[in-house]
Amino acid sequence: MNLAEEISKLKKEKKAVILAHYYQRDEIQSVADYIGDSLALAQIAVGCDSDILVMCGVNFMGETAKILSPEKKVLIPDNTAGCSLADSCNAVDLKKFKEKYPGYTVISYVNTTAEVKALTDIVVTSSNARQIVESLPADEKIIFGPDKNLGNYIKAVTGRDMVIWDGACHVHEQFSPVKIKELKEANPDAEVLAHPECRKPVLDLADKVGSTAALLKHSEKSQAKKFIVATEPGILFEMKSKCPGKEFIPAPPEDDTCACNICSYMKQNTLQKLYDALKYEQYEVTVPEETRVKAEVPIRRMLEISEKLKL
Ligand code: 13P
Ligand code: SF4
Repeated sequence: MNLAEEISKLKKEKKAVILAHYYQRDEIQSVADYIGDSLALAQIAVGCDSDILVMCGVNFMGETAKILSPEKKVLIPDNTAGCSLADSCNAVDLKKFKEKYPGYTVISYVNTTAEVKALTDIVVTSSNARQIVESLPADEKIIFGPDKNLGNYIKAVTGRDMVIWDGACHVHEQFSPVKIKELKEANPDAEVLAHPECRKPVLDLADKVGSTAALLKHSEKSQAKKFIVATEPGILFEMKSKCPGKEFIPAPPEDDTCACNICSYMKQNTLQKLYDALKYEQYEVTVPEETRVKAEVPIRRMLEISEKLKL
């Protein structure tokens, strides 16, 4: 059986739409209707009118789509695909943290559970975090979570009053500034591209810091012909297809033997699981209505501000 062909048939038969994050396996990106970063996937989930939406990503992405489109059947090929960053902040602890900072506006990165979003004032992604923070009054006090690297980066570039949650993504924390520096010395014509979930010593070496979508866009318009890419290497699939003739070198992790710059959660989805998802309409994402209603508010706020700012 040719899985890609069968997926395409089933998709038409069931009028389903397949969304995939840039970190998905190449073969999944190849069959997806839309490939995007977290912001784009949330925007597409709202805009598309299909009854079935298959989110090839991790659980929080499926939840975000379901929160925004409760009338749709949202499927995820593997419902055990978690996220170390979302796991680093639970709702009980966030509630206690908020009590320590009364009057603060809670800004949460989209990589969070529905319960955490329900305790949030505005959700952000790495594509809009800076602009959303800057759109708030200059004296606004902010709790930012859960990613400390993104939080500290946004705090540094905006100069805003921010208390930052101590969470991180286990993939982006792995990139080695020493090895990136060595690679850069060996390839002086290469630009370093880094996701803001990376640690500060990595960001300090970067020619461009941005979300996956921003890094992709930069690689397309830059005059450079070579790039060292400090984010999950799934993005290289789209970079190579958008920029034929340019060279992309994945940034190495501290430990060369561990392949820990690869997000194992994102790679849990396979073509076979995507086929099964469409065929058996599994695994359906559900969010308790009380949580969904509360979590929808800060996500809609993000989408409204992003639309106003044309992001
Ligand atoms: P973006 O797609 O928003 O850049 O986020 C990266 C990420 O880690 C998603 O899990
Ligand atoms: Fe979560 Fe990091 Fe994987 Fe993104 S790359 S899904 S933040 S663990």
